[in-house]
Amino acid sequence: MIESVMLVLLPLILLTLQSCLPQTGPLLFREKALNFQETLKPQEEDDGKYEEYFRKLREGYQEDLENLSIEARSSFQPIKKIIKRKCYDCHDSREKLPIYGRVFPRINPVKKHQTEGLAALDMAKTYPLKAKGNPPQLTLLKAIKAAVLDKTMPLKSYTIVYPFKRISKKDQRDILAWVNPLIQEHERIEEKYQELFFQDTLTGKVQRLFSQKCLRCHGNGNNRGNFGDMEKLEELIKKKKYIDLQKPTDSLIYKVSLSGEMPTDPRERLNEEELQLMLEWIEEAREATSL
Ligand code: HEC
Ligand code: HEC
Repeated sequence: MIESVMLVLLPLILLTLQSCLPQTGPLLFREKALNFQETLKPQEEDDGKYEEYFRKLREGYQEDLENLSIEARSSFQPIKKIIKRKCYDCHDSREKLPIYGRVFPRINPVKKHQTEGLAALDMAKTYPLKAKGNPPQLTLLKAIKAAVLDKTMPLKSYTIVYPFKRISKKDQRDILAWVNPLIQEHERIEEKYQELFFQDTLTGKVQRLFSQKCLRCHGNGNNRGNFGDMEKLEELIKKKKYIDLQKPTDSLIYKVSLSGEMPTDPRERLNEEELQLMLEWIEEAREATSL
């Protein structure tokens, strides 16, 4: 008991302490990191200076992520109950199914839902609620938001039988109030440190786009619709089924994005600029091969 009280209190105490400190702690560091990024970015080609710059950038990134995860853990506490009650049945490998879910395992629909739900997302891998493969935290949080906003989860076939497992308006409000600020903060961090992960080239931009919009289902170990190949661009570009070098606008990855079929969540639909970027990348590859 005392242990669990301390677990909750400790981060709070630390946070309070941190905000009381004069401007010497992590806060100041964070400002420095930002300043560093804006003013000290090496202008000339100097490997040593670049190394130092990226080292600082990585430190700032780790620091921001740690702060965010402290915040996320403590804001998660009040909604943990809801998630436990409404989602764990199918998304927590520690959960033992109730007796009606364990009989006739081969044909039992409850068992089947649990198996598939777990394959997509195992919340027992603890916070940050881990999805299969390696979807970046941001895309997972967005998926949770979409599932809760559209009430596609818990599965309809399930809530028909167990109406009390449906998420209520209040559950929905509480979960969104938890997830929305986290998504925003993740987006801010992702934007601020993007050069750590993606180069400022056409290929780098396409990699970033795919990682934001497609890899949760088509890469990083995820293989929805038997298409898990969007990670390695140099291999993807050679796949005739998806890429039409002769007529880039006929490429399947472009067509399904243009029509809005992909990504499956209409809120994530690619904008004009992003579609253009995809085309430019295919066109560039065509020119490179025709040389
Ligand atoms: C009756 C079982 C069941 C319950 C209860 C359930 N889910 Fe699911 N969930 C599934 C199945 C099955 C899948 C995978 C199939 C799919 O994507 O439609 C899934 C997939 C998901 C995904 C997509 C994961 C990904 O990486 O694409 C999210 C997010 C999710 N569930 C969130 C939730 C949340 C939040 C709750 C509680 C409010 C919940 N689920 C309750 C069965 C369930
Ligand atoms: C939330 C998961 C999800 C996301 C995100 C997603 N897809 Fe898909 N994608 C699917 C599923 C599921 C299928 C299989 C659909 C079907 O068979 O009806 C599919 C199928 C496809 C196919 C057809 C594969 C084939 O062999 O016919 C292409 C191409 C594709 N997606 C491209 C994309 C692109 C490009 C993006 C990003 C801009 C994207 N998808 C984002 C889930 C996703």
